[in-house]
Amino acid sequence: MSSSGYLRGRRIALCVGGGIAAYKTADLTRELMRAGATVRIAMTPAAREFITPLTLQSLSGHPVFTDPFDPAQDSSFGHLHLPRWADAFVIAPATADLLARIRAGMGNDAVTTALLAFRGPVLLAPAMNTAMWENPVTKANVAALLADRRFRMVGPDVGPLADGDVGAGRLAELPKIVAAAAALAEAGPLAGKRVLLTAGPTREHLDPVRYLSNPSSGKMGLALADAARARGAHVTVVLGPVSEPVPDGLEVVRVVSADEMHAAVMQRLDGVDVFLACAAVSDFKPAQRAAQKVKKDAAPAQLELVRNPDILLEASAKLQGRALIIGFAAESEEVLAHAQKKLAAKKLDFIVANDTRAFEASTNAVTVLGKDGSVKELQGEKRDLAAKIWETVCR
Ligand code: C5P
Repeated sequence: MSSSGYLRGRRIALCVGGGIAAYKTADLTRELMRAGATVRIAMTPAAREFITPLTLQSLSGHPVFTDPFDPAQDSSFGHLHLPRWADAFVIAPATADLLARIRAGMGNDAVTTALLAFRGPVLLAPAMNTAMWENPVTKANVAALLADRRFRMVGPDVGPLADGDVGAGRLAELPKIVAAAAALAEAGPLAGKRVLLTAGPTREHLDPVRYLSNPSSGKMGLALADAARARGAHVTVVLGPVSEPVPDGLEVVRVVSADEMHAAVMQRLDGVDVFLACAAVSDFKPAQRAAQKVKKDAAPAQLELVRNPDILLEASAKLQGRALIIGFAAESEEVLAHAQKKLAAKKLDFIVANDTRAFEASTNAVTVLGKDGSVKELQGEKRDLAAKIWETVCR
């Protein structure tokens, strides 16, 4: 694989610890960016003794998170923003002290508070004096962290150290750290897969200004799309009219009506590995659409409606045996019973059942039903929930 571009679209939180190798994170920032990543940085107080936040801010192009007690920092890019934004954390240099604090679950500086709130993969790049590295306490801390599969390690390398010793403790060579950061996402089940997803509502126009629709915000679908991208998938979203901001790194096809959504999906089924229908498609459309705005006194007392195509049903028939097929079921009563029926009728691998009241909310509680009879209840912020849904269906 060429070294350029293989972190394209990835968001990396680079956390800098306080050791002499911290000076190398200036170059590491550039190398990660050269490989295509967007990099945001957090620093421990000790790291700032070795390299300034201004250096790393200038190189990364983003303010550096150094102080969870600074209201300006914390409210805009601090300890909850960084973990929500990042696809992966890279800790370099991971000093003995920082490893100990991470292992203990402490949150006493910018790095550890942000890391505590992160659910994704973490790459540790230790660097320290050999005796510190070989200290049984450090060894135990590293072993305990690596027992959690979210944590990976690169290095430390063996060689001359800043203190004149020769031994284990050098920060791994930067290309090795970049490759290991890329491997964090590439190890996952969605890496390199093509994911096609529908999201948002559809609008079924009666005339140029009036339409039938529903309050779907597109939040859940966009969160699922972003979470798949973060796991290395190439994601296409066929998106109904929503005001929700669209995350970077997705291929987006904007549509308005169910017919347009149907056409956009059918044209894109070739080579799809996962099809996920999250859109709240209008089941009906007006039998006629007036070219001009209908005058009040000319409006019919009753609307004639016709059925829209069932996009998921058709896509599922075409993709059987070739792709993982996932639907949503938004119900206002007997949620699970209805979802179970749709799982079978539309020949899905999974259906994600939720209550229609979740449409506009930023949190949700869902039940994921599998065709193998599996049942998993999940809840949370839509962004966290998206990660949990992918974990469940990729198992
Ligand atoms: O049958 P029901 O509309 O409740 O099924 C919901 C699932 O089917 C959702 O995944 C939704 O995106 C999808 N669907 C569709 N086309 C329709 C109606 C629903 O793709 N016309």
